[in-house]
Amino acid sequence: MPLGKLRLGVNIDHVATVRNARGSAYPDPVRAAKLAEQAGADGITAHLREDRRHISDTDIDGLMAALTTPLNFEMAATAEMQAIALRHRPHAVCIVPEKREERTTEGGLEVAREENRLAHFIAPLREAGCRVSIFIAADARQIEAAARIGAQVIELHTGAYCDFHAEGHFDQRDAELARLTDMAAYAHGLGLEVHAGHGLTYDTVQPIAALPEVMELNIGHFLIGEAIFRGLAPAIAEMRRLMDEARGR
Ligand code: PXP
Repeated sequence: MPLGKLRLGVNIDHVATVRNARGSAYPDPVRAAKLAEQAGADGITAHLREDRRHISDTDIDGLMAALTTPLNFEMAATAEMQAIALRHRPHAVCIVPEKREERTTEGGLEVAREENRLAHFIAPLREAGCRVSIFIAADARQIEAAARIGAQVIELHTGAYCDFHAEGHFDQRDAELARLTDMAAYAHGLGLEVHAGHGLTYDTVQPIAALPEVMELNIGHFLIGEAIFRGLAPAIAEMRRLMDEARGR
């Protein structure tokens, strides 16, 4: 029997990375987001980083005004970001760890160690009607803590699985995939909605898309890179096709 349809959230951060490399007004991430919606994205993801290295506050204003699908607003657990999220009230908020020196979001959030603070941090976001997601590694301790603090969703970090694949460390890749498989089921059993993302490509997406508990994938960097060769809409359409194929649809 085919699995339920998997939602695809297209992350448009790196359209802004290209724009900001020259300090120009183009390419416009809002235009990319609208094109992604037409090409089959079920939602748009954008990460407003503390250092504004890619997405800007103005981009978030533009996305909120222009999108017809839900915005998944990625943010660090800071007072500044909480205020911005409460002002915009996006459909979803995904809490991610953020370090200034990192190239990208390198690990999952350490929820277990910061349970109390995070519980208080997400409460107003939930009250404002945002679906709160926590970006974590496939680790039972973190999943249990995410459930206890009242998150509705966890997003499992697929970065390690993708890195092992790219480096040809297939035993480690398979071990990480087994962990993701077990932890997706565990989180679902605790009543959490399960999403996944980071580093996914055409080569790595299908084993993750085939996990029955996973409801949404968030994919960005690879798609924006692939758009250079195919165009954004065909790049997204191919990802959609691979995801559907993995679900037996
Ligand atoms: N999910 C989360 C929580 C992320 O932080 C990111 C990167 O911003 C992604 C998914 C998308 O990762 P990538 O750009 O590597 O596809």
